[in-house]
Amino acid sequence: MNKEVRPARALNGKIKLPPDKSISHRSVMFAALHEGRSVIRNFSSAADPHSTINCMRGLGVTVYEDGNTVEVEGVGRDGLQSPEGDLDCGNSGTTMRLLSGIIAGAGIPARLVGDESLSARTMKRIIDPLTEMGAEITARKDDFAPLEISRPGPLKPLYFPLPIPSAQLKSCVLLAGLFGDEQTEVIETLPSRDHTERLLNLTIEEKGEEKHIYSSREDNIPEQSYRIPNDFSAAAFWLVAGAIHPNAEITLPNVGMNPTRFGALDILEQMGADITVNNEHDEGAEPVADLRVASSALQPVEITEEIVPNCIDEIPILMIAMLFSDGVSRISGAEELRHKETDRLAAMAEMLGKAGVDFTEYEDGLEIKGDPDFVPESASYQSYHDHRIAMSAAVLSMLGNKSSQIQGAECTAISYPSFWGDLSLLTN
Ligand code: S3P
Repeated sequence: MNKEVRPARALNGKIKLPPDKSISHRSVMFAALHEGRSVIRNFSSAADPHSTINCMRGLGVTVYEDGNTVEVEGVGRDGLQSPEGDLDCGNSGTTMRLLSGIIAGAGIPARLVGDESLSARTMKRIIDPLTEMGAEITARKDDFAPLEISRPGPLKPLYFPLPIPSAQLKSCVLLAGLFGDEQTEVIETLPSRDHTERLLNLTIEEKGEEKHIYSSREDNIPEQSYRIPNDFSAAAFWLVAGAIHPNAEITLPNVGMNPTRFGALDILEQMGADITVNNEHDEGAEPVADLRVASSALQPVEITEEIVPNCIDEIPILMIAMLFSDGVSRISGAEELRHKETDRLAAMAEMLGKAGVDFTEYEDGLEIKGDPDFVPESASYQSYHDHRIAMSAAVLSMLGNKSSQIQGAECTAISYPSFWGDLSLLTN
C-alpha cells in the first residue's frame, strides 16, 4: 500500500498510543510459564505480539483474547508441549529470540520460522550461548531462520558476559536459565531494556558498572496480571513531530517511562524540546506518565555508544529531529541498526538523500547538518517493510510543502496499527 502524506498545517490533539510491544511479548510468554491464570490488560493489537500469542498456542497454551484483554492459562515450566507444526514468528525478532531461550530451556523440539526480513537477521548471537547450554540448533547457512532447536542432553548453566548490549539476547539466555537446576548468570555493562528482569522479579546484583542477573528453576514465575503501559517507542514519533512542527501541541497519556527505554526523551530534552512529564505513577512493575510536547527550537546533539541501547528503536526518528536543529548532529556506535527489520542506517541515509539533507553516512552512524528552516523535498520514500522507517518518513513528510509518498505503508501495523488514523486525527 502506498500512502500519500500531505504537509500538516498544525498538529494538535491527544493520542491513545498502542500498548508497549516489548512488554506485550513478555507478558504472554511469562504468563504461560506461570502456573495459573493471568489477565493482561491493554495488550497490543499489533502484528508482532500476535505472532507471540500464536507461537504460545502452538506450544499448547490456551490464550483467550477479548479486545485488548488477554487471558492466559499458564501451564508452568514443565507444561509446554511440543508443537505439531512450525512456530511462525512473523516479522518479530523478539518472538524468535526469546522463544528460542524458552524452547531450549524446556528441551522441547521445535522449528521456528519467520518472514523474509526476520529470516535475513542473524541468529548467531543466540545460537552460540544456547548451544553452550546444551541445545542443538540447526540454522540456514549457520545463522539464519528457520531454526530447528532440540536439547538432547541436560541443560547446563551459563556464565555469560553479554558480547552486545541486546535485551533480546539477555532475555533469551535468562529464559533458558529459568529451566536449570544451577544458576545462569548474565553480566551487563551497558544497560538495555530490563522488562524481563522486572516482570520475572529476577535477582540482580550491581557490581560497579556491571549488573549481574541470575535465573534458575528456583525462581518463582509470578502471575502476569497487570495493565501494560502505552509504548514509549510509539510516543517518540509524536514527540519529534510535535517538537519540529511550528504549530503543534500533542498530549500522550499513560506512556511507559522505564528508564532503560527513554533515552530518546533525554536526548530530545537535551536538544531543547518543549516536553512536559505529568502524572508519574507505576503500573505493575513499570513506571508510567503523561507526556505533552509543543513546538520547539532545537539544538544539535551527539548520540554515542553508551546511550544507544536506551534509544535503539528511536534513532531513526531522532534523526528526523536533527534535520530541524540549528547545527551539526552526530550518531556513532549505532552499527546495530544495520541488523534490524532492515538496515536502518542505509534506509535512513536513502530517505535523507531524497529529502535533500546534507549528511554523511558512516559504518556506525550518521552526521547530519540541521537547519531550523529546513523544508524536505517532496519524494517517494521506500519503507523497506520496516515500520519505524515508514513512520519516520511520514513525520518528515508532514514538514514538506508538497505531498510525499510512503511505499509499503501497511508495515506500520507491525507495532502501531492505528498510526495512520492518529496522523489524520492530529492534522484535522
Ligand atoms: C527488544 C529489544 C531491542 C529492540 C527491539 C525490542 C526487546 O532489540 O530493538 O525492538 O523487546 O527485547 P535488541 O535486543 O536486538 O537490541
